[in-house]
Amino acid sequence: MNTNHNSENQLQGNTLAFDVYGTLVDTYGILIALKRLVNVQAELFMNTWRGKQLEYSFRRGLMQNYVDFNICTRQSLDYTCLYLKINLTNDEKEELMQEWDVLPAFPDVKEGLDNLKKSDCRMYAFSNGKAENVKRVIQNAGLEHYFEGVVSVDDVKSYKPDPRVYSYFLRKTESAAMKSWLISSNPFDVIGAVSSGMRSVWIKRTPNAICDLWEIEPTAIAGSIMDLNTILKI
Ligand code: LAC
Repeated sequence: MNTNHNSENQLQGNTLAFDVYGTLVDTYGILIALKRLVNVQAELFMNTWRGKQLEYSFRRGLMQNYVDFNICTRQSLDYTCLYLKINLTNDEKEELMQEWDVLPAFPDVKEGLDNLKKSDCRMYAFSNGKAENVKRVIQNAGLEHYFEGVVSVDDVKSYKPDPRVYSYFLRKTESAAMKSWLISSNPFDVIGAVSSGMRSVWIKRTPNAICDLWEIEPTAIAGSIMDLNTILKI
């Protein structure tokens, strides 16, 4: 409930849950290492790997057979090598796994978070990744000081978009659903959050990005993190 009736700052009292991989940091940062290892297949490799990684997390959640996100990432890497008939050594696979720790922030992120930091909202990183991994990647990307903390689905042993992980976020951060915004470029995450009663902004960084045409829609759509201040104040 908003008790700040006279506040000029409408962001006051809001909690922002930032998805990490694909929203704050660019998973396609791995393309540089992939181009060296698999050459012209790099983009197809990355799309297959990322798609399978998420599919494995969905399946693990549904099966209630949780393993941590690193294992989903590693098993989907093995799948991708088999699928594309590419032989990578264990050392090369390890090198690719380590790339997930040093993903670059998208260009709009720092300026966007700087703007939001001036408002009175609370900001968290909220991810499928284990807390220690998420802390590492946001630290390496120079983002850790923006956040009050990291909330990981690992605490509930399930994955987005299981409604339990969004409820857990609200409980852990002591936030009210109607004052809490999931910020994500991943449509499945945005739809999952809205379905669980939270609000959500879909970050549509490219004109070609598509959000699933379901009856559940993002509360708002932004072209970048830099637009959030304006959008959340509406
Ligand atoms: C995350 C996944 C969705 O960071 O990439 O939670």
